[in-house]
Amino acid sequence: MTSARWVLVTAPNDRGSEPRDVLAPALERLRRRHPGIVFRTAVLGGSGPTVSAGLDAALAAGAREVVIVNGQTMPDRTMESWFKRVVAHWVRVHDSAPVPHIQVVSDLTGSDGFADLLDAALDSGVPARSTAAPIISPLWDEVPGFSRHVLVCRGPRCSVNGAPETAEALSSELDSRNINDDAVLVTQTGCMFPCSQAPVVAVYPDNIWYHRLSADRVARLVREHLVEGRSITEWIGARRD
Ligand code: FES
Repeated sequence: MTSARWVLVTAPNDRGSEPRDVLAPALERLRRRHPGIVFRTAVLGGSGPTVSAGLDAALAAGAREVVIVNGQTMPDRTMESWFKRVVAHWVRVHDSAPVPHIQVVSDLTGSDGFADLLDAALDSGVPARSTAAPIISPLWDEVPGFSRHVLVCRGPRCSVNGAPETAEALSSELDSRNINDDAVLVTQTGCMFPCSQAPVVAVYPDNIWYHRLSADRVARLVREHLVEGRSITEWIGARRD
């Protein structure tokens, strides 16, 4: 959609539900109120389109202004700082293009509307019940019988450098080979430390950490390391002794 103004509503947590689903009802209301504005969700890490992808889409659509709003009400200073860094990185790598004017909104607790939001919530509660689903299930009684555990970093820097595409490519490649949790268990993680090597993927129990594991490297990773058991030495990142 072509619109001069875009709003990216962010969900800084890198765990839990897809923010597009969580924020969908609120964004629908906002779209009705402001039909000329494009509203999208974005994440720093975890599932869903990244902030950089949102900015790319706004740029491609010819937006002149992008407002980035933290969709969570409780402030997280670390995440706020990361959002600012990710946006600054995006601006730096687009310094030769006419980029939209970007504004980052501070956390909502400081806004005039936050008290009104809490006030309105007081009358919208539902009774707590003891009949809700239990916190355990037979499905999760046992650790899967995997032989390798692959950790895909979805921290902020890896997410800005291709980790979403890497994670998706890995999932598709394993699916296409019918390799399931009982052979290879994949876990998306928060920052694993060596951010300069992004995107980072580690394979256990081999204790092999790959750097710059972009989506186009995934097929070889699966074939050589996860299926044939041979690590790819030229892709292993630098490591302290
Ligand atoms: S964000 Fe991936 S290692 Fe830090």
